Amino acid sequence: MPLASTDRVLAATPLAAGAFNVVLIEQLEAVLTGAARAGLPVIVQISENAVAYRGALAPLAAAAHAAIAATEVPVALHLDHATRVDLIEEAVARGFTSVMYDGAHLPWEENVARTREVTQWCHERKVFVEAELGEIGGKDGAHAPGVRTDPREAARFVADTGVDALAVAVGTSHQMSDRTATVDLDLVRALRAAVPVPLVLHGSSGADDATLQAAVHAGMKKINMSTHLNVVFTGAARATLDADPAVVDPRRYLRPARHAMAGEVARLLRQLNTPQQV
Ligand code: G3H
Ligand code: ZN
Repeated sequence: MPLASTDRVLAATPLAAGAFNVVLIEQLEAVLTGAARAGLPVIVQISENAVAYRGALAPLAAAAHAAIAATEVPVALHLDHATRVDLIEEAVARGFTSVMYDGAHLPWEENVARTREVTQWCHERKVFVEAELGEIGGKDGAHAPGVRTDPREAARFVADTGVDALAVAVGTSHQMSDRTATVDLDLVRALRAAVPVPLVLHGSSGADDATLQAAVHAGMKKINMSTHLNVVFTGAARATLDADPAVVDPRRYLRPARHAMAGEVARLLRQLNTPQQV
């Protein structure tokens, strides 16, 4: 089906939308196959870092558009953790349905001013904007799970910038390859009550299924995940290569990697959308 707006994916998902990062075409295929298998909408994310790895946005964006058009569930296409405004402009020109402007490392006034400017520009083009307040650790590889977003500051930030979704620091941290993080659920509930737009959980790889479900039931609406899916994808490739050192054809190890990641995407989407047991 045609690309869905990010708003629509969020609205069409029963509880919380999975937003999964892709670097390789096989990972893109895995996300779309997994979502179709679960029968749930999904958000495909391409990060500024992924663009740096590939050297350009165009090839992966074109592959995403073609693959999404052939997928039978609503799919949105999101530019993740963008600090470069020129990349945001290019993503909008290339049909992305949402962008994240990441000014979390900036002082308050500068984060507000730049986020507001990007948001106005994107809204004129009907593109949804996510921003971040309270820097979520681990972007440089070092975990900093102690940072927290203040609910009153979050409400003021959303009012001052006009953003459509807010990434908040509630205990998770980027790039964790074990699922041992805790989420401050009282803070999630306080943020949910204070902030009028969907809340985004970054660094979701560090949280196990039960923690993610509790975070969703407390009010998180978009669950960003990358590293855990890399663990699954690379683990399957590694198992194949370890089992047969003579393998040289990339299809021999990428096929099981893609298959394993698709299964995990389907499983995660179902988990994220399991109603709270009473
Ligand atoms: O924006 C992307 C996510 O926050 C990914 O974080 O690799 O720790 O799951 P993760
Ligand atoms: Zn993130």
